[in-house]
Amino acid sequence: MKAVCPGSFDPVTMGHLDIFTRAASHFDEVVVLVTANPNKHSGLFSVEERMDLIRQVTAHVPNISVDWWGGLLVDYTNEHGISALVKGLRTALDYEYELPMAQMNRRLSGIDTFFLLTDEKYGYISSSLCKEVARFGGDVSGLLPEPVVDAVKAKYA
Ligand code: PNS
Repeated sequence: MKAVCPGSFDPVTMGHLDIFTRAASHFDEVVVLVTANPNKHSGLFSVEERMDLIRQVTAHVPNISVDWWGGLLVDYTNEHGISALVKGLRTALDYEYELPMAQMNRRLSGIDTFFLLTDEKYGYISSSLCKEVARFGGDVSGLLPEPVVDAVKAKYA
């Protein structure tokens, strides 16, 4: 069975990577899907850069691939015959945010969303918090995969 892990991943964090690798141990194939418009450069990293970083940090997991999509998620999953979404849940706030999306996606296409609880080591990590800390010169090592730490430092250099 094939699953999609969708998100903006600007950039990918250790928490995301943990969810991808755990998803890859439960599903035959996992597509990490960067959902953004590549023609609208919003965010710190372009869609290509985000995908490249995800490819680098998931290279050791053979059943993970990386793609992008600029439309409705369910159009992608329908086109590719995918019947599962996988998301990580850190806190009740994530649950409140994810519940309507999971229900909407299920209404639109019948797709199920599987939630994995974030590892306690990564419960407070988000892409935006890491970017804020890095922007002001704070240490984000251990919170982002190493190539991502370097890429973020280079952006703010
Ligand atoms: O990392 P994010 O920004 O929390 O991810 C949210 C994301 C990208 C999964 C969500 O915005 C999404 O699915 N976008 C694709 C467009 C879509 O299908 N929207 C309706 C969702 S019910």
